[in-house]
Amino acid sequence: MKDFINGLPKVELHLHIEGSLEPELMFELAKRNQVQIPFQSPQEVHNAYQFHNLQSFLDIYYQGANVLIHEQDFFDLTWAYLLRCKEDNVVHTEIFFDPQTHTDRGVAFDTVVSGIHRALEEANKVLGISSQLIMCFLRHLDETAALATLEQAIPHKDKIIGVGLDSSEQGHPPEKFAKVFQKALNEGFLTVAHAGEEGPAQNIHDALSMLGIARIDHGVRCVEDQLLVAQLIEDRTPLTVCPLSNIKLKVFEKMEQHNIVDLLRKGVCVTINSDDPAYFGGYMNTNFHAVANAHAMTKNEIAQFTRNGIEASFISDDEKARLV
Ligand code: ADE
Ligand code: ZN
Repeated sequence: MKDFINGLPKVELHLHIEGSLEPELMFELAKRNQVQIPFQSPQEVHNAYQFHNLQSFLDIYYQGANVLIHEQDFFDLTWAYLLRCKEDNVVHTEIFFDPQTHTDRGVAFDTVVSGIHRALEEANKVLGISSQLIMCFLRHLDETAALATLEQAIPHKDKIIGVGLDSSEQGHPPEKFAKVFQKALNEGFLTVAHAGEEGPAQNIHDALSMLGIARIDHGVRCVEDQLLVAQLIEDRTPLTVCPLSNIKLKVFEKMEQHNIVDLLRKGVCVTINSDDPAYFGGYMNTNFHAVANAHAMTKNEIAQFTRNGIEASFISDDEKARLV
């Protein structure tokens, strides 16, 4: 099964580029940019990655991003991730970035977008990996800040296909961002949102009805509402599930208890993704192996994750046909 998984073409739809910052690159950039970090070695950074919930991870994750300052830093970060994609046979990836994490520190929006975009273009040419870029609003900040961020994205519509919603789910429900999502839809952006990761099934419901979203990021708490599960199956609403992330952030205690395989067998359009691989212990292949080691699955079931990924992706029907 290991070789089958490694050789399977994969599509990644839930990856925060800031979450692919490996401790080694964090150290290199800290030195290059003369930024102080509260660690003595990359190993010490690895050791600090013990989380008890989403917020305990976010606190350390936002701190790590402080080393990203110049366009070249965003290029290097994205390029390193794309090389890992190549190793794991990821043929298409849709990447999140959090502009507010950088603009609030004085880094220009254009610097962030242009570094990431240059790496994506290069990967298309040199590595044969296609991609899309999705900008996320930080939900612990207010809607006015999200609206200002959307304004900054409008001149970059050619590079940004959609907008999303991430960060602390508890206490920041979808309705807080209804206006900015409506504006994004009017501007022609596709929309997605993290919902039902730590928050209740109601957040999935509300993200669908209030934010016009095309897919749910995480969504594993949908099982608390069987009517919602039936609706997800009927509408083929994709869930971009992140198995190792869910274990690291204690959404499930053990992979054996994870509901992704159950949801797959029920007919929900679930996909496997790595979320923040530098923090959660693995990229795409490692996530697939972790699920397959904990749940007996046929090769056809494992391949269904890729078929679902293609179906759920933001690529044209022609491109989808090329991938199947
Ligand atoms: N930002 C990065 N990773 C995240 C996650 N798993 N949930 C919410 N926001 C995030
Ligand atoms: Zn995420």
